[in-house]
Amino acid sequence: MFKILSTASALPKCRKTNDDLSTFLDTSDEWISQRTGIRERAVCTDETLTDLLTQAADQALERAGITAQELDLILCATIRGDYITPSQACVIQKEIGASCPAMDISAACTGFIYALDVAAGYFARKKVKKVLVLAGDCMTRMMDWSDRSTCVLFGDGAGAVVLGEGENLMAIQLTANGNVDVLNIPHVGGDSPFDKLPKNQSYLSMNGKEVYKFAVSSMYRDVQIVCDQAGVKVEDVDWIVPHQANLRIIEAAAHKLKVSGEKCLTGIENLGNTSAASIPIVLDRANTEGKFKAGDLLVLTAFGAGLTTGACVLRW
Ligand code: ACO
Repeated sequence: MFKILSTASALPKCRKTNDDLSTFLDTSDEWISQRTGIRERAVCTDETLTDLLTQAADQALERAGITAQELDLILCATIRGDYITPSQACVIQKEIGASCPAMDISAACTGFIYALDVAAGYFARKKVKKVLVLAGDCMTRMMDWSDRSTCVLFGDGAGAVVLGEGENLMAIQLTANGNVDVLNIPHVGGDSPFDKLPKNQSYLSMNGKEVYKFAVSSMYRDVQIVCDQAGVKVEDVDWIVPHQANLRIIEAAAHKLKVSGEKCLTGIENLGNTSAASIPIVLDRANTEGKFKAGDLLVLTAFGAGLTTGACVLRW
């Protein structure tokens, strides 16, 4: 179906530590780092999501050695693009000078894996030879900054991969379990004179404990399912690339799977939760550090609002 030809990522310039947040919030470095593993995050100031995604896209194309005109499809996983319409993927298509079809995938933090599965379908139908998969969000712009239980958890960023024809995807599976209560961000309304619905604030709200339980059990389940589908044993996996929401979630899932900590790639310490971008950012960091050898077995695993989950096995 496909192989990953290149990886890339982009973060905003400004970094905020837990101590920085505790200057205006009733929180502390101790609480945040002990409960989540997060120490600092990059936050958008004057950058738009388009800026971050364009930077990641340009870098991914350059590293793959192809031009934007060679792309057959652009997919962008995002919770909220810079516009409700056009899609963020269309905005990036224009920015990088591509002319192929482009669309967004809405599956919150699982969006990157949902996008890989959509891309796999296009490759299987032989409709594409080169696909740009993007993931990014400015999560800090969706927070209620007086709610210490959510705002300290998130950061901003973007990731990208270029996919080409190949046989490196060994298994992929998605789930959705519709649930608005556990985690949501309402839309802002317009100002229709006929509207009788209450006006929303577009802030993230979350039942952290429920998400935590869901995350650990679904990662544990999904990693085993995709390994089974790929015909490999969990112990033979070289690298697990989990969604970065909370270090304790990653450690608890790894413990249940009996996977050693060194095999689990993390970046949450200095990223926070960057939603769908977290997997491609961590993938790009490990790739540019030269961690992956040809033939390594990678498992990507994510969960997010929806509630959605997704996992896949890749041969590097
Ligand atoms: N600083 C200091 N104290 C805090 C903070 C803070 N930032 N936030 C909450 N507290 C307090 C609470 O008020 C509470 O105080 P109380 O005991 O006096 O009432 C206490 O800390 C404990 O709060 P809990 O919510 O019970 O803390 P918990 O141990 O459950 O940890 C956390 C919260 C970190 C959010 C955890 O539940 C979690 O990580 N859940 C998963 C979240 C997640 O993965 N989200 C990603 C979703 S992906 C997507 O699609 C967007």
